[in-house]
Amino acid sequence: MKTRWVVLPIALVVLGLIAITAADDARAARPASPIYGVTVPDGYRGWELVAPAREAARFDELRVVLGNDIAVRAYRQGSLPFPDGSVLVKLAWKEVQSPDFASATIPGAATTVQVMVKDSKRYAASGGWGFGRFVAGVPTDEAQHRTCFACHQARVQGRDYVFTRLAP
Ligand code: HEC
Repeated sequence: MKTRWVVLPIALVVLGLIAITAADDARAARPASPIYGVTVPDGYRGWELVAPAREAARFDELRVVLGNDIAVRAYRQGSLPFPDGSVLVKLAWKEVQSPDFASATIPGAATTVQVMVKDSKRYAASGGWGFGRFVAGVPTDEAQHRTCFACHQARVQGRDYVFTRLAP
């Protein structure tokens, strides 16, 4: 009788450890971008809106930039550079005709999810930002990741390499 009360808690602890290890494995296995090792962050679909954007032909895309709490706080305060821990995610979809209303366009198929993570030490060589581009959850190739910082640096270096402004 007594041994049961000893065995049960031990069994629960062991099961708990197995569950924690499995969760760690799942996290470790998440695909990371080349060069930067950036992954798609958990729960980003619930993050706050920074701004929408529309990209004309040849992309014909609707885009939305979302930010985590740290990034959005920095936007609101108008403080640059963005602090470490800031994460920005850009979602994109093909822009398609609304079947319900002639003058409206709506998101069609999802195209890319792009991520920028601020870590001024780890990513010192790229303005403190790590970059990731994902198609259907899979990171695109290294050649594409070589282009990210160059374009952001050439055009918006003065805004901490971030194009999108907080929508009014
Ligand atoms: C040729 C220029 C160019 C290249 C290359 C580029 N971007 Fe951008 N990026 C932009 C522009 C312009 C925006 C502003 C939003 C929009 O128009 O889509 C943007 C916005 C973003 C944003 C939202 C934050 C912001 O700066 O506004 C992220 C995240 C992002 N890009 C990630 C990436 C990643 C990852 C790569 C490389 C795989 C990349 N970008 C390559 C031009 C570029």
